[in-house]
Amino acid sequence: MRLLVTGGAGFIGANFVLHTVRSRPDVQVTVLDKLTYAGDVRSLAPVADAVEVVQGDIADAALVDRLVGAADAVVHFAAESHNDNSLSDPWPFVQTNLVGTYTLLEAVRRHGARYHHISTDEVYGDLELDDPARFTETTPYSPSSPYSSTKAGSDLLVRAWVRSFGVQATISNCSNNYGPYQHVEKFIPRQITNLIDGVRPKLYGAGANVRDWIHVEDHNAAVWRILEDGRIGQTYLIGADGEQSNLEVVRTLLEIFGRDADDFDHVTDRPGHDLRYAIDSTLLRTELGWAPRFTDFRAGLEATVDWYRGNEDWWRPAKATVEAAYAATGQA
Ligand code: NAD
Ligand code: DAU
Repeated sequence: MRLLVTGGAGFIGANFVLHTVRSRPDVQVTVLDKLTYAGDVRSLAPVADAVEVVQGDIADAALVDRLVGAADAVVHFAAESHNDNSLSDPWPFVQTNLVGTYTLLEAVRRHGARYHHISTDEVYGDLELDDPARFTETTPYSPSSPYSSTKAGSDLLVRAWVRSFGVQATISNCSNNYGPYQHVEKFIPRQITNLIDGVRPKLYGAGANVRDWIHVEDHNAAVWRILEDGRIGQTYLIGADGEQSNLEVVRTLLEIFGRDADDFDHVTDRPGHDLRYAIDSTLLRTELGWAPRFTDFRAGLEATVDWYRGNEDWWRPAKATVEAAYAATGQA
């Protein structure tokens, strides 16, 4: 199979490419990645000989047409992915997440390639902290941020291209990922690298907001199940029953680093901050037989801490710039 992976130099995409090359020698991978601040070809170094990396924009119609024409299937990870950035400048989110997805869909329509669309649980908005409900495939869309609204829009484009043009597409909406190669702007890597530097973790507001954590390897295993056996036109929710408040995550990290449980700072909250996400992944589990392997969150965090301790040369170059941006918004 010839597989085009967009955003394959980003966090989840790079883990997907590493996993694919190591476990599926029959798959020939091409990565299309703009190499924005969030993309790093060094993440693909372990498989560099086996993968073609094309630096380019998913909104470049001529380039996308050529690459999709040479692929049997496309897995679309590329996106502007960080909520905080979408609040300071929404435009790249509109351009990449909406125009970029449109450009891919048109190429997929012309060439008849199989297409899998990677999306987020944030399209459903948020849940109350004390609400026992979880998101399902039929929860109405209600995104809160420029990031999540552009992801929601991209999902709707995919649904329309399936229904109107018969595009062979599936969609997955996953919860918060953690693991190696995640950019230091994101919550868990930011706190781990702060702790490595002897800096106190930074909690937005009270830290009561809940995220449903899943290891990136479990996410990518689910993507492969959907790519192979998912029903065309179907949306699958991916989640590993990993609900934790941000305060709980910070306390676990402090424990791993042998620091005092109150050794953190409260900083300015994110405007419009979603309270809680929670995924019901029953459909994926029953229909496609997927189950998470990383069910011990603390053990997964420990392994992630070890990865950041052992790969300082990978994350160090971005750290000061990210912290300067957070300082400007009162979040440092
Ligand atoms: P990331 O920011 O780490 O990586 C995004 C990648 O896309 C980068 O390599 C970047 O260079 C590339 N990119 C950005 N704009 C591009 C463009 N115009 N053309 C080509 N490449 C471009 O993101 P991530 O956390 O790995 O997320 C990947 C996907 O998974 C996104 O679609 C995101 O919405 C979705 N998702 C993420 C999470 C999570 O917890 N991180 C959870 C659910 C879904
Ligand atoms: O739910 C899936 C989504 O998860 C993905 O679609 C996004 O691409 C991904 O970035 C992530 O979005 P979040 O906004 O939930 O992730 P983030 O890592 O930015 O923040 C996680 C939580 O931690 C959130 O409640 C905000 C909070 N936070 C974040 C940072 C960076 C802090 O308390 N302190 C921080 O320093």
